[in-house]
Amino acid sequence: MAILKILKYGDPVLRQKAKEVSKISKKIRILIENMLDTMYAANGVGLAAPQIGESLRIFVIDVSAENEPYKPLVFVNPKIIKKEGAICVKEGCLSFPEAYVNVRRYSDVMVKALDINGKPFIMEAKNGELLAYAIQHENDHLDGVLFVDHSRNIFEATEVLKANNLPQLEDDKLLNEEDLESIILENEAKNKEEGR
Ligand code: NI
Repeated sequence: MAILKILKYGDPVLRQKAKEVSKISKKIRILIENMLDTMYAANGVGLAAPQIGESLRIFVIDVSAENEPYKPLVFVNPKIIKKEGAICVKEGCLSFPEAYVNVRRYSDVMVKALDINGKPFIMEAKNGELLAYAIQHENDHLDGVLFVDHSRNIFEATEVLKANNLPQLEDDKLLNEEDLESIILENEAKNKEEGR
């Protein structure tokens, strides 16, 4: 198997909308295996096909802890079919080395996809667990959306990108997430009141 080159922020492929996979051929299966090898070699939690220059609707995730055996998850032609709740999380991305930024995400998602054998499945991730926001992060890559577009604090994001010699935020890509922001603010106020 092979370790592929990961495209960095600024590469136009990362902004393209990826195409559906029409058939899980041997070539696609090899691509998926190589994506997993590449993700593990880079110590990543997830990797989407556009990040290795293939504009296809495929991503892989592994949220197992360091001392646990690998638990690779493969998503082909995924669709998020339910999303609710909101959280603020600090995310990174293999296409943004060393840059970690606070972003807004749904806390609960349900995704439907095909596995590496073309078998459909549904997966649910809840309560703001890593899998919940990893699914959203990777699924975004398939639509040319990047985690920094969800930045909760654009001043912070600007500084982090600058400090890591990465291209700046693209103003026209920033997402308006007032609904998520108000839920996050409400939860923060609640936690403060409860002394958490
Ligand atoms: Ni990413």
